[in-house]
Amino acid sequence: MTFLSDLELVAAALDRQITSARAGDLPVLEQRPMAAIIEDLQLERYAHEGGLEGNALQEFMDRYLHVIINLHQPGYLGHQVAVPHPAGALGALIDGLTNNPMAIYEMGPGAAAIEYFVLNWLLQKVGWTPSPLGSGRHSDGDHGGGVLTHGGSLANLTALIAARSALCPDAWRQGTRDELALMAPGNNHYSIERAVGILGLGTSNIYHVPTDARGAMDPDALPDALARIRRDGKTPLALVANACSTAVGIYDRLRPIGEYCREEGIWLHVDGAHGAAALLSPAYRHLLDGLELASSLTWDAHKMMRTPSVCAALLVRDHRAIDNAFSQDASYLIHDKEQPGFDFLHRAVECTKSGMGLKFYLVLAALGEAGLARYVERQYELAAQAYEYLKGLGWVEIPVEPQANILCFRVAGSDVHQLELRKRILAKGDFYITSTLFEGRRYLRLVFMNPDTTLDDVERLMGQIERFLADRHIA
Ligand SMILES: Cc1ncc(COP(=O)(O)O)c(C=O)c1O
Repeated sequence: MTFLSDLELVAAALDRQITSARAGDLPVLEQRPMAAIIEDLQLERYAHEGGLEGNALQEFMDRYLHVIINLHQPGYLGHQVAVPHPAGALGALIDGLTNNPMAIYEMGPGAAAIEYFVLNWLLQKVGWTPSPLGSGRHSDGDHGGGVLTHGGSLANLTALIAARSALCPDAWRQGTRDELALMAPGNNHYSIERAVGILGLGTSNIYHVPTDARGAMDPDALPDALARIRRDGKTPLALVANACSTAVGIYDRLRPIGEYCREEGIWLHVDGAHGAAALLSPAYRHLLDGLELASSLTWDAHKMMRTPSVCAALLVRDHRAIDNAFSQDASYLIHDKEQPGFDFLHRAVECTKSGMGLKFYLVLAALGEAGLARYVERQYELAAQAYEYLKGLGWVEIPVEPQANILCFRVAGSDVHQLELRKRILAKGDFYITSTLFEGRRYLRLVFMNPDTTLDDVERLMGQIERFLADRHIA
């Protein structure tokens, strides 16, 4: 077995790649046709013959690293995916090789303990009571709870399952007699609608709450939305708020929203997949003021906490909602037993659950919470600086002043023109940016995920755009 020598060559190749990417010596992305990649990587050959190790592995790595998107390149201004800290990658390696599917304690006591610890750490950041360190299931006690999930979409789904079990404890066995409705702004992440579909609630039972010009939910519009639900003979299941919105990164005002939900007895789920990390920063925590009034929160480590995909948290203020959410038997897994730890299985959609807490924990332990807070602050500040710079240019339209690290803009011309421009930027390879619809119009979108991106990079990007605009091909 050549594990150590293969590891060494893989590590060396990765180190070279990341170093070159960070120095800007590589394109962010070079898209090649899929068939060519399959051929170039000799996928068929090694699937048939095996033996991809040593020199062959070295060659494979070289070829593979040519067809990745280089998140570490400072021109990466794309989707909300962490530019991972190397410590997180070590976590992925350790978890990959030990492969401890820790949803039952005995299949990974270390990973389960880390998940428990990490969840308590996150709960404390919200201002909710952490879980006691006792073992077994928590039958009572006023404290929070949570579970790490394979992504924010699954965390959102789990939140709505918990909300349903809190509202209709029999729903698991008997279904729901009442027609349930969800309140949400129209710009929430598509995983919310997907969760509603999966739960069989019917996506037509989503009642959209009007938003202001920045896309933030209008708390004064909540009574009307609730009245509409009741007039239609339905029962409100939950209200979902953004912290922050995916498209433009705007935070809903959680305090008045939370107070209203408390008064009306409605479950407030806050989708903080991207923006909950602002809780770590004394300078930006105010954006989530009132969060403690919510019932549940989605918070992705693999977005703004430098953790490799996937690692997301669903947190609940009252653990009972999630402890009762899935009422199932699985005799080979779930049975009474004496044990010194905690099973997460009954809180999770997944059966096999990776020890993903390790990836996040190693990042946290490398940077410390102050280091993680500094990262969030730096990225949010960069977006504010970029906003001022773009405003000063005078030839771009900016729909919303950023609150987070997301900045949208468009140049003169149609929606198609914006997409053409993006295509041209991607083809050049120095930058990777995304685009989004906001209030029915197409914008180019910069998300400052990369800790090496500076205002100089933004200036270079805008210089490139200016040159493209001067070039007749896309006018
Ligand atoms: C607000 C919000 N919620 C949920 C998600 C989905 O998270 P994941 O990609 O981890 O499933 C995203 C992803 O961008 C998001 O922005």
